[in-house]
Amino acid sequence: MSKGKYYLTTPIYYVNAAPHIGHAYTSIAAETIARFKRMQGYDVVLTTGTDEHGTKVERAAHAQGKSPEEFVDLISAEFRETWQKLDLQMDRFQRTTNKNHGKIVNELFEACKKNGYIYKGTYTGLYAVVSEAFVNDAKPGDIDPETGKPYEELTEENYFFKLSAFTDRLLEFYEKHPDFMLPEIRRNEILAFVKQGLTDLSITRTSIKWGIPVESDPAHVFYVWFDALTTYVSAVDGENRWPADLHLIGKEILRFHTVFWPAFLMAAGWELPKHVFAHGWLLFENDKMSKSRGNIVRPAPIADTMGVDALRYFLLREIVFGQDGSFSFDALVGRYNSDLANGLGNLASRSLSMLQQYREGATPPSFADNELSAEISATYKEVVAHYEAFDFSKALERVWTLITKIDKLIVQVAPWKLAKDQSLEAQQNLDRILFTSLESLRIISGLVSPVLPHSAQRIWEQLGYSDQVATHSIEEFQWNGAKLPAKIGEIAGVFPRLDTQATVQKMQDLEEVEKARQAALLGHAPKPEPSVPTAPLAPIITIDDFSKVDLRVGEVKSAEKVKGADKLLHLKVDIGEAEPRTIVAGIALAYQPEQLIGRKVVIVANLEPRKLRGLTSQGMIVAASLDGGTPVLASFLESVPVGARLK
Ligand code: MSP
Repeated sequence: MSKGKYYLTTPIYYVNAAPHIGHAYTSIAAETIARFKRMQGYDVVLTTGTDEHGTKVERAAHAQGKSPEEFVDLISAEFRETWQKLDLQMDRFQRTTNKNHGKIVNELFEACKKNGYIYKGTYTGLYAVVSEAFVNDAKPGDIDPETGKPYEELTEENYFFKLSAFTDRLLEFYEKHPDFMLPEIRRNEILAFVKQGLTDLSITRTSIKWGIPVESDPAHVFYVWFDALTTYVSAVDGENRWPADLHLIGKEILRFHTVFWPAFLMAAGWELPKHVFAHGWLLFENDKMSKSRGNIVRPAPIADTMGVDALRYFLLREIVFGQDGSFSFDALVGRYNSDLANGLGNLASRSLSMLQQYREGATPPSFADNELSAEISATYKEVVAHYEAFDFSKALERVWTLITKIDKLIVQVAPWKLAKDQSLEAQQNLDRILFTSLESLRIISGLVSPVLPHSAQRIWEQLGYSDQVATHSIEEFQWNGAKLPAKIGEIAGVFPRLDTQATVQKMQDLEEVEKARQAALLGHAPKPEPSVPTAPLAPIITIDDFSKVDLRVGEVKSAEKVKGADKLLHLKVDIGEAEPRTIVAGIALAYQPEQLIGRKVVIVANLEPRKLRGLTSQGMIVAASLDGGTPVLASFLESVPVGARLK
């Protein structure tokens, strides 16, 4: 029986970048919520899509010799395929270039205009091309950090939206709906922004061609945010779904969703969404992911190596939803091994194989309660409450507390001893523990199914079920909620243990391939090298001269600054010898120590040792020397073993 409709959305993704795990984070979280709500009995629709208009996209297309239409088709498809690759069930995929979308944007505009909230004006300002926005606090001549060039001055006739008329109405609305913006910590920053008083917004452009035309005045196209936000309505056009129950977004776009969007809707007299939840920022090893840093992680190599559930679990367990969090390949494999392989996977194989061994796979009679039933009921209640609050990490943590308790109980009861004792009491006790572990596994597979849909299903089938665990009501996952099948299914491992180093290496190798594929797709020409005055060539040497130089591949094991020397780093580099070498390198102005750990480098291994600042440097690291002496370390595109010689 349906509990009613539930409509939730992911943001629509810009097509000027290819999908990475930051985008996947939002989509995975939204899809997990959709799954949970379905298990609660809601008729759920989850929408996503792509944000395809604006100067940035137009320029990117032209740079590739493509029309904007061709370009956006390509990148939009890339997002759709990524969600398929990650097995994310997205119910609608709305593009801002879809016809029905343009119609709704115009309807919203006309409704705002009819109600007196749109007027025509001219605007002159400094314009940031990359972020497609006028910059209010810049002076002429200021450099746009995104382009490295001065901001462009732009004057144009725009339609303005009277945002200033909504300051009080918005504050009143927030007051009346304290759970509109979630989590709680985000409220204050928005309240402070609105309380300062709002200024009107220009919502059309005449300087841009690549956008949705204003039907009543086609010299104008809509500004990207007026266009983009409206996909939330157009994605479910004609379905009687609006208003949305939840917009799930990243924290950096909170203002657009909690100030501009509700004001547009109020102005038009349309209904407002019920909740906006802003999650935190996903960092790579505590650093912002960006193309220029070259530290973007794509989801496909992870899915191909470890499966999508491992990524879902990591993102939702490791990071407190709403706060920033850090991703690293090592942490991903570490969590997988400790929680999935050793935790849930181990409990599943242990419980099922005990039943196979002692009862030939036939499920024992059920027990109304035992020492764990109260604990399991408590787990159910808490897990559901955490999911309802979108607190995934707590929900999962609670399930894992239960797993630990079951493991302990099994050790304490020692079924392997009971199995050897044929007394009625021992055999009944054996039945009890076998039933307890199976029933727990049934409950756990239901409770983790929103986060781990594929693995939960595999456990479900091994328990002997032939249907889909996700089609069951969440309420069934309490003690004795349902009868277990008479016999378990075929036992197969769910989370095989992974070798950390080999798994990380495989993902990193696949990353390189995926990175190159995406770069070709986006048509990124390789970056021009910074100019280096050509140094005069050194005198000719023979091959024998060269072979005297022993160059080796090394891996940086540790790195720290050398006290009192700004330019020097003290490195320990493994080149395949018994001990890592000490290398003192003049690269501290160009590299942070943390950046170097684990990095493969080239070492001159037979250079006479030299004393520097009290340290004996046993070799030299090879780097290109750019203008002004900036070093750039030599590195490899393919994976290379430590100790390999360059010749
Ligand atoms: N197109 C706008 C949204 C319009 S919605 C009406 C946009 N697009 S985006 O592609 O830049 O970002 C889309 C979503 O991806 C945001 O929720 C954003 O937070 C998320 N992420 C992109 N990179 C991210 C991280 N590194 N970490 C977490 N989320 C990030 O904004």
